[in-house]
Amino acid sequence: MTSHTFADLVGDEKEFFAEYFNKKPLLRKGALKDPQGILSLRRLDELVQLEVIRPPYLRANLKGAGVPDQGFTQTVTVQGTDLTDAIVPEKVYELFRAGATIVWSSLNHLDSSLRSFTRVISDRFGAKTDCVAFLTPAGKQGFSPHHDPVDLFIVQTEGTKRWRLWNPAEVRKGEAASYTAEQLGEPVIDVLLEPGDVLYLPYDTPHAAAAEELASVHLSIMVRPRMWKDLLKQTFEELVREPQFNEFPFIGADREAGTEALFAQKLRAVAERLTAVAPGSELDRLAELGRRMPGNSAGHTFLSTARLDALEADAPMRRTDAVVEFGTPADGRVQLTVNGHRIAVPAPVADILAGMAAGQETAAADVFPGVAAERATRMAQGLARIGLLEAAA
Ligand SMILES: [Fe+2]
Repeated sequence: MTSHTFADLVGDEKEFFAEYFNKKPLLRKGALKDPQGILSLRRLDELVQLEVIRPPYLRANLKGAGVPDQGFTQTVTVQGTDLTDAIVPEKVYELFRAGATIVWSSLNHLDSSLRSFTRVISDRFGAKTDCVAFLTPAGKQGFSPHHDPVDLFIVQTEGTKRWRLWNPAEVRKGEAASYTAEQLGEPVIDVLLEPGDVLYLPYDTPHAAAAEELASVHLSIMVRPRMWKDLLKQTFEELVREPQFNEFPFIGADREAGTEALFAQKLRAVAERLTAVAPGSELDRLAELGRRMPGNSAGHTFLSTARLDALEADAPMRRTDAVVEFGTPADGRVQLTVNGHRIAVPAPVADILAGMAAGQETAAADVFPGVAAERATRMAQGLARIGLLEAAA
């Protein structure tokens, strides 16, 4: 699959955030190259055959109502364990032929290329994103006019679909709602989406969509930013991790008089910690938490661990961004504290580590000057295992 950037979706990022983000819908015709590479009918055919896909990952919607799961699932046995709700592909195809819209929820949980695609958005917003695929038969209304309480990016990948959008109301409700045609009047955007087109809908944008002559596949990527109250809660949870907040006070009716004074003291302690929070680094931490929420996380620990086992003497190594505390040298060794580990390393190793600038690469064998390459490489391996170094390649 071609990899896409956030700018591919929204065009000029500055203009997007100034003019459209949170304000009004944006239409970008032909924004994405290779839309079938993002999601194709062929891929949906593959996905419907996989026994691992069960409701709520797949659902069907017929004539505006959800089809009960029992209508398209069966029991399959996996290594002696019964899965009672595996998809029956023939029944899903039957529903599709009868006019049902087939919906794959949180497809980023199942498809790693779509996960990478939605990560482009979660990385930018520091928020959880979820990607839902809609397959609508030709000539069918998918859903009647409504709004959703989340920001949406709509990506058309196969066929066509007509979208009508209205500007969000002055006062936002922040919860789902549906509308009648009379309530809405003339749409601000009325467009036939074709493969590669992108629509952005700020939360609470009323929309209605219907497939035309062709069966339609589109992705709806939901961005779920946290409200201030959610962010504050996460900051607070971090602040009250200290042991002093772990006691169980007795707060029943006949509590001791001292309990109230103690409570007042805890409140002051929390207030002090809150005012001491550095807003910049805390927002960065909260954004990183948002990027790592289920459905968006990514990692390569198996790969990097296996590579580390086979580390060569000339492999380029660099410092990770872990904070390292260097102790004072004693008996030719220096105590290091990193990621909760305390280790003593020979002074020459500590000198090399202290001198490594961010991003600077040093061969594994040069991490420990003055000893055999094999021994130095083992030292580099050990430092990588505690997260102080990492292989640069
Ligand atoms: Fe919707």
